[in-house]
Amino acid sequence: MKLEKVMVVGAGQMGAGIAQVCAQAGYKVLLHDLKPEFVERGLGVIDKNLSRNVDKGRMTEREKQEVINNLTASTDLQDAAGVDLVIEAAVEKMEIKAKIFAQLDNITPVHAILASNTSSLPITEIAAATKRPEKVIGMHFMNPVPVMKLVEIIRGLATADEVYQMIEEMTKTLNKVPVAVNDFPGFVSNRVLMPMINEAIYTLYEGVATKEAIDEVMKLGMNHPMGPLTLADFIGLDTCLYIMETLHEGFGDDKYRPCPLLRKYVKAGWLGKKTGRGFYEYESSHK
Ligand code: CAA
Repeated sequence: MKLEKVMVVGAGQMGAGIAQVCAQAGYKVLLHDLKPEFVERGLGVIDKNLSRNVDKGRMTEREKQEVINNLTASTDLQDAAGVDLVIEAAVEKMEIKAKIFAQLDNITPVHAILASNTSSLPITEIAAATKRPEKVIGMHFMNPVPVMKLVEIIRGLATADEVYQMIEEMTKTLNKVPVAVNDFPGFVSNRVLMPMINEAIYTLYEGVATKEAIDEVMKLGMNHPMGPLTLADFIGLDTCLYIMETLHEGFGDDKYRPCPLLRKYVKAGWLGKKTGRGFYEYESSHK
């Protein structure tokens, strides 16, 4: 079976990026969100990214138009009735994801694969909300999606080998590199990345160095493109805290306890770049 029609659920930063790379690879993509303004905002981000590609001579205006033509806005989940693949990139709450997957299970054709872009929630538990756990899988894209090469492909306990292979192939058509991972809290990416970020926050909390110095050490000393505190602001401090809590709860190990300073910033509403303030201050809350 060929995957041709895709629905992306959630038109936020990740959902819009996923829809963009799918549309660029020639898939017919429905970009779904609850309200028309959310979908419009996502399509606006895609338009801006594509225009940058045209300005830089990487794409013609006509090619841009072809990509745009592959995208359709959706505010009705019933539109998933004709798709081969759904990639869910909604909020990171198990109750919400379970509800969406149960609905999609009823709406989509029997052959359809249901994927989640969750950054740390168990695929096995999401799959349990459906009657097709063998067709449920994790596709964890990295931010910014159009730029980052990796997609972690997460097998749930029941994911069929054939489904894994189809998603691995599909990921390659997006010009991304699929990496196989099993279903454990944080998978590989966030199990390794988030404790590093959390430790950087502890380092700041304990007064070992300034935020600039911590970032500089990791940028210049380890060749990281962004220092960990800048990266935390970029990802969103609420997301970082949520993932640390998922690791802490999932493993029951205090080595994953979130730094109190991270909790404090989240309580203050200092969520990073998206709110204009995190460890650093930003002029504009939107890129
Ligand atoms: N959308 C699309 N393209 C973007 C972009 C965005 N949001 N941000 C940057 N780019 C593009 C730019 O257009 C530019 O492209 P060209 O050079 O081809 O014109 C390219 O990326 C480089 O951008 P800049 O020159 O502006 O800046 P930079 O060299 O500092 O790179 C960066 C920016 C790619 C974000 C780089 O700093 C980086 O790789 N940072 C680390 C990102 C990272 O670690 N991501 C993973 C986060 S963890 C995650 O996503 C998982 C999770 O579950 C939390």
